[in-house]
Amino acid sequence: MGPGDLDRVLSSISLFRSKEVQFGAETRGDAGAWQISNDLSLLLTIDFFAPVVDDPFDYGWIAATNAMSDVWAMGGSPFAALNIVGFPDNQPRSTLQRILLGGAAACREAKVSILGGHTVRDEEPKYGLAVIGKVHPRRMITNAGARPGDVLILTKPIGTGLITTGIKRGMAPPASAHSAVRTMKRLNRSASETMLRFSPHACTDVTGFGLLGHLHQMIHASGCGARIHVSKIPSLPGAVELLAKNCFPGGTGANLSFLKGKIDWKTDRKHDEILLADPQTSGGLLIAARPVRSEQLLASLRRAGDRSSRIIGEVVRSRPGRIEVLP
Ligand code: CO
Ligand code: CO
Repeated sequence: MGPGDLDRVLSSISLFRSKEVQFGAETRGDAGAWQISNDLSLLLTIDFFAPVVDDPFDYGWIAATNAMSDVWAMGGSPFAALNIVGFPDNQPRSTLQRILLGGAAACREAKVSILGGHTVRDEEPKYGLAVIGKVHPRRMITNAGARPGDVLILTKPIGTGLITTGIKRGMAPPASAHSAVRTMKRLNRSASETMLRFSPHACTDVTGFGLLGHLHQMIHASGCGARIHVSKIPSLPGAVELLAKNCFPGGTGANLSFLKGKIDWKTDRKHDEILLADPQTSGGLLIAARPVRSEQLLASLRRAGDRSSRIIGEVVRSRPGRIEVLP
């Protein structure tokens, strides 16, 4: 199900809205926000999915990291979480234990306490977290604040959908699989803390709708357009080779049909669209920030460990949500 289908389903459901709701489902932000007081809002988010890599510990770590990422994207700090688990009867308990150990380890690194969880029987394993974080109500970073002239910074390489599909089909070289796992396991915590020191205008994290899908959501919500440069977009080693072998995930098609008519292609579209719409797991932060001091922001992100961080384009005055893709 693509972002368009999901929008249609969600918009047909009316929700009770208490006055404390600062951001709810209707804003399609990264996390919901509930204002407790003048200086405290809670951020709530949930994410879980089936295994994306072979090793159960890595899978658990990646799923937990991915779930916490929405809180970091909004400039908050996650502090507590609940496990969500689906597990088949016919798989060894030790596998479940390794998944949960991976999730617990990621949460320990993030200083997030797991308070409990819920497990159901399922045909294939599913794992993730419901996460709660805190943020100052007026210092929250949303996906709606980008302004024309801002630079767009991406903190992790793309291509995790291509490579995890390659892993499932036995087509991903071990070195590619290794760098994809390392990228997906990386917490967006330090990237978030670093960007906050530079007062960014907008941020979102790149996940299932791909770079183009999440960029579209951000600039659409901000009422502007964007221009991105394919040559500046970092991708994981081996991702382009898998693309050339037609090894890409099913979700790419749904992402591309959602993007139809929203992108102005000035490049080899057939090739680039598969990479730029590639559904990401535990992807990086996509930050819109004023160009002044953007080089310092970039240097700080890299120094803090997000070495693939790049300026990939800029926010422009245009029809809201329009993206121009240049070589
Ligand atoms: Co998100
Ligand atoms: Co999410």
